[in-house]
Amino acid sequence: MRQTDFLVIGSGIAGLSFALKAAKKGKVLVLTKVNAEETNTKYAQGGIAAVFNPEVDTYEKHISDTLIAGDGLCDRETVEIVIKEGPDRIRELIDYGANFDKDEDGSYDLTREGGHSEKRILHYKDITGWEIERALLEEVSKNPNIEILTHYYAVEVITQHHMGVPITRETKDVTSYGIYALDVNSGKVEKILSKMTLMATGGAGHIYAATTNPVIATGDGIAMVYRAKGKVRDMEMIQFHPTSLYNPGSFPSFLVTEAVRGEGGVLRDRDGREFMYDYDERGSLAPRDIVARCIDAEMKKSGEEFVYLDITHKSKEMILDHFPNIYEKCLSIGIDMTKDYIPVTPAAHYLCGGILVDINGQSSIKNLYSCGECSSSGLHGANRLASNSLVEAAVFGNRIAQKALENIEGVEFNAQIPDWDEFGAEQPKEAVLVTHNLRELQRMMSDYVGIVRSDFRLDRAMRRLHLLQDETEEFYKKTKLSVKLCELRNLILCAEMVIKCAQIRKESRGLHFTTDYPYKLGGKPENSVL
Ligand code: FAD
Ligand code: SIN
Repeated sequence: MRQTDFLVIGSGIAGLSFALKAAKKGKVLVLTKVNAEETNTKYAQGGIAAVFNPEVDTYEKHISDTLIAGDGLCDRETVEIVIKEGPDRIRELIDYGANFDKDEDGSYDLTREGGHSEKRILHYKDITGWEIERALLEEVSKNPNIEILTHYYAVEVITQHHMGVPITRETKDVTSYGIYALDVNSGKVEKILSKMTLMATGGAGHIYAATTNPVIATGDGIAMVYRAKGKVRDMEMIQFHPTSLYNPGSFPSFLVTEAVRGEGGVLRDRDGREFMYDYDERGSLAPRDIVARCIDAEMKKSGEEFVYLDITHKSKEMILDHFPNIYEKCLSIGIDMTKDYIPVTPAAHYLCGGILVDINGQSSIKNLYSCGECSSSGLHGANRLASNSLVEAAVFGNRIAQKALENIEGVEFNAQIPDWDEFGAEQPKEAVLVTHNLRELQRMMSDYVGIVRSDFRLDRAMRRLHLLQDETEEFYKKTKLSVKLCELRNLILCAEMVIKCAQIRKESRGLHFTTDYPYKLGGKPENSVL
C-alpha cells in the first residue's frame, strides 16, 4: 500500500504540468503504464497554438476560430480561459527549457494550420511534442516532491463502492480515495491512497483500426471514471486527421502534420487535380472535419485507399528545415517529399469528448480531477481546432493545481479501503483471444463508426460490440489481471460510449456526420452526456 497527497495518472503534458504545480504543496506520485516519455504528447508534430504576435493576432480571433471549428458545441467561458491563459503557460514551458523555432530576427517562427485565421502555432521542427515532453520530464526530475512510478497500470478508481456502499449514476457524493494499480513487473495489484487524484490518461485512438496514436491510447481513464459512475460526454466527437501516411501494414499510422498544408502543401486526387476547392473555399486548409470528409468522399469515388499531399513546389531547404522527421520517414519507404507526392489517408487522431469537467478540471466525482485529452472541458466542442490540445492541457494543469491546492485542506486518507480483491485466478489458456477481440473491435469501429455514419451502421456496430463485451467480461472475471485484457475492456467500454453518444445525436455537427440526419438541428445544441 502507498499513499500520497496528489496522485497523477499519466505522464504526458497534462499530468506533468499539474505535477510541477501541485508539488509546491505536497507529495506528488505520477503513475505511468509504460516508460515516462511514451505518451501522445511525445508524438505531437505541428505545435502549440497561442496568440504570440499581437501586431496581427488577437485573443478574439483565436477565440472565434476555436468556436467556429467547434461548430456550436464549445463552452465559450472555457474557450476564453484557455486562449487568454495559453501564452503564459507557453512562456512557462519555455522557462522549463522547451525550445521553439525562431526566425532570423529572433521572434518565434509561427506557422498555420487548418481553421486558424492567423499564423499562431509555435513549433519545434516537426517534433514539437517530443521537445515539450523532454523539457517537462527534465523539470520534474529536478523536483524532490515528485516521484514517477513507471510500468504501473491504473485499474480502477477507488470509491465508496469498494467499501460495500452501493453507488449508482444518481448518487450525488461519489468520492475518490485513490486508485488500484497493477505493478506490471510483479503482477500484483497495489492500493494507492490519495487525497486528490488527477486523471490524465490521454485519448482512445486504439478503438479504431487506423490511428495516429501510440499504443498507450486505450481510453483507460475515461473507462475507469465511467465505471466509477462519473459523467462522460461528447464521445461521438472523434477527430480523424486527414493526412496520415498511407503505408499498409504499419500500425499505428505515421502522421503527416497539417503544418505541411499550412506551409503551402495541397491535396490532389490520383490524376493530380487539386480537389478541395470543389468542396470548400478554404481549400486544403479548411478545418479538419471537412477535409477528412472530403478525402473520404474522394476515396469512395475513386476506389483508391489514399489521396496525395503535394509540397514539391516548395524549396528543398524549407522542407528539410521545417519537416526533417517527416522527410526521413517518407524517404524510408521510398518517397522523396521534395520531389514526390505523399500518399495520405485519414486516421483516428483525437478524442474531443471525455470525462466531464468544470472550468477548474473538477469531475463529477469528489476529489477527482481530469486534464488533457481524456477530459471534456468544453474547449473543443464538436471539433478541435488544430494545435489547441497541448495548450489546453498546460492551462488546465495549472488551473487544477490551484484548485486542488485549496481543496486539499482537511482531506484525510481513507483508512477503511480494503486491498484489491483478486477475483480471477486462472492463467489464461488462450491469451491470443484478447488480440483477436481487439482486432475485431478496431475493424468493426472503422467499418461502422468512422467518418460517415448512419443509424443502420450504428445499430449493427452496437450488436457486434455487445458480443465482444460479453466475451471479454467473462474472460476478465475468470483470469489473472493483465494490461492487455484491461485495455481491451476499456476500449470496448469507450467504443460503446462513442456509439451511444452517436445514437443520441440526431443531427450532423462537427465531427459527427450521419447520412440519416445530414443537417444541424436549429436552436442551442446539446452535449451528449452519459
Ligand atoms: P498523453 O500525452 O497521451 O499521456 C497519457 C499518459 O497516461 C501516458 O503517460 C500513458 O502511459 C498514461 N496512461 C494511460 N493509461 C494509463 C493507465 N491505465 N495507468 C497508468 N498510466 C496510464 N496536439 C496539439 O496541440 N498539437 C500538435 O501538434 C499535435 N500533434 C499530434 C500528433 C500526433 C501523432 C498525435 C497522436 C497527437 C497530436 N496532438 C497534437 C494531440 C496531443 O498530442 C494530445 O492530445 C496530448 O498530447 C495529450 O496529452 P495528455 O497529457 O492528455 O495525454
Ligand atoms: C498536426 O501536426 O497536424 C497535428 C496537430 C494537432 O493534432 O493539433
